[in-house]
Amino acid sequence: MKEVKTIIIIEATLYINIGFQMKKPAITEQPIHSILGDRWSSRAYDPAQFVSQESLLSLMEAARWSPSCNGEQPWQFIIFNKKDAIPWTQALNCLSIGNQNWAMDASILILSSAHQNFSNNEKSNRWGQFDTGAACENICLQATSIGLVAHQMGGFDVEKARQLFQIPRQYDLMSFIAIGYPLAIEKVSAEVLVREREPRKRKPLREIFYTNHWGEKSL
Ligand SMILES: Cc1cc2nc3c(=O)[nH]c(=O)nc-3n(C[C@H](O)[C@H](O)[C@H](O)COP(=O)(O)O)c2cc1C
Repeated sequence: MKEVKTIIIIEATLYINIGFQMKKPAITEQPIHSILGDRWSSRAYDPAQFVSQESLLSLMEAARWSPSCNGEQPWQFIIFNKKDAIPWTQALNCLSIGNQNWAMDASILILSSAHQNFSNNEKSNRWGQFDTGAACENICLQATSIGLVAHQMGGFDVEKARQLFQIPRQYDLMSFIAIGYPLAIEKVSAEVLVREREPRKRKPLREIFYTNHWGEKSL
């Protein structure tokens, strides 16, 4: 118990202001690639900075190269660029109020969806959502690699989005991803800053991996 408390205290203090940007790298039990540790779900976007077409294309390409069961590529994405104000605002309005409060400053919103069936035989594809999640993570990691912030959201009105954007029933709506440039630390409001400084928490490795049998701890 004492050990856990110590870890949380360390995590709570780990937020680094590099230049003007706040980073919150994962405190890992073992070394991992810096992109994995550096990705985090910030809520502080610079409303004055827009994601370039080149950067957006790189995010799209990252999603495309995600693996999928049988190479099915069950995902379908809709991009909303703040430069197209009307559809972007419609997308924003699908989010829960709590998410709208910070996602309104993001430059891009991406809605991900997963086809329910395999295309060759129309049988149920139970890996469709799983594969789409992996593609979304590819987007988030690519965003991190080029200095963008990407934050996934499950808090949105699925039916509203389906109606507004005429999404077929065979697609399950999975998440919105808010993407943009990080806001300079001194411009982050006190309310958002509190959440930005919340510790990143993870279960310990020994809880989430078994070896050989269910319940047989690895560590
Ligand atoms: C599928 C999914 C849905 C999420 N939904 C929300 C959401 O609606 N609102 C929110 O603020 N964060 C949301 N998050 C972000 C998580 O809260 C966040 O990933 C988690 O707390 C771990 O923090 P980290 O991403 O900074 O490591 C979501 C993340 C995922 C993957």
